[in-house]
Amino acid sequence: MKRAIIIGATSGIGQEVAKTLLLEGWKLGVAGRRRFSLEIFQQIAPDQIEIEELDITQEEATDKLQILINKLGGMDLFLLSSGIGYQNINLDSKIELDTARTNVEGFIRMVDSAFTYFKENGGGHLAVISSIAGTKGLGVAPAYSATKRFQNTYIDALEQLVHLQRLNIYFTDIRPGFVATALLNDGKHYPMLMKADKVGYSIVKAIKRKQRVAIIDTRYRILVFFWQMIPQWIWKRMPIKTN
Ligand SMILES: NC(=O)c1ccc[n+]([C@@H]2O[C@H](COP(=O)([O-])OP(=O)(O)OC[C@H]3O[C@@H](n4cnc5c(N)ncnc54)[C@H](OP(=O)(O)O)[C@@H]3O)[C@@H](O)[C@H]2O)c1
Repeated sequence: MKRAIIIGATSGIGQEVAKTLLLEGWKLGVAGRRRFSLEIFQQIAPDQIEIEELDITQEEATDKLQILINKLGGMDLFLLSSGIGYQNINLDSKIELDTARTNVEGFIRMVDSAFTYFKENGGGHLAVISSIAGTKGLGVAPAYSATKRFQNTYIDALEQLVHLQRLNIYFTDIRPGFVATALLNDGKHYPMLMKADKVGYSIVKAIKRKQRVAIIDTRYRILVFFWQMIPQWIWKRMPIKTN
């Protein structure tokens, strides 16, 4: 039975991926800060699910990841879904810095920890949920878009490191467009909103294919293709916002 660890599975995309993997017979280790949500989720299939309460912004999170791996008896797939994001046109510094703390500091902590585990244990598959928001700087969400770009580049860098060190680690950088989850539950209107369960299913498909970069879904693949071609002098004038 294959074993996956999902950090950030107490709600949203991470939990939907967890449900799909469960149906496919995987053994799961799931984590997040909300213990109660983890306990409820574990009740779906207590023999198949291990849980661990952890906060990726805290140093002890790496020890807790190791505890979860031990409970599971090993790890074949690591998925980091934890993340926060807000629109912040007034540049509230708490929001900007909290976003960096979770999406950059916490991201590095957990991804490096999983990388080291795979390096020391013969290899594995390391996947992260970043976002299409990393394609370009978004004026309405500076820290969110910049931290997501950071995540894309960090995974590119680790892939090169794997080649340098001749390791057996695969990467999947998952970049969804807007998904109906708590992250976007701010009363604003988001166009082309996708259902979280469908997104979870598409992500599992991409992971099984060992896709290196997976933009979810086709409409967003087209959007990103055109966004990438827009020069900065035009981009800065584009009224990209939600109401
Ligand atoms: N929704 C979208 O439109 C969208 C689009 C593209 C990418 N994404 C990305 O998808 C990922 C999941 O977001 P979502 O949309 O599924 O929203 P969500 O339902 O709010 O899920 C966020 C998850 O991150 C976990 N998390 C947040 N801070 C954490 C911390 N300090 N330590 C551990 N876990 C933490 C939360 O668990 P706890 O609160 O229990 O800790 C929760 O499980 C994020 O990285 C987000 O940037 C979302």
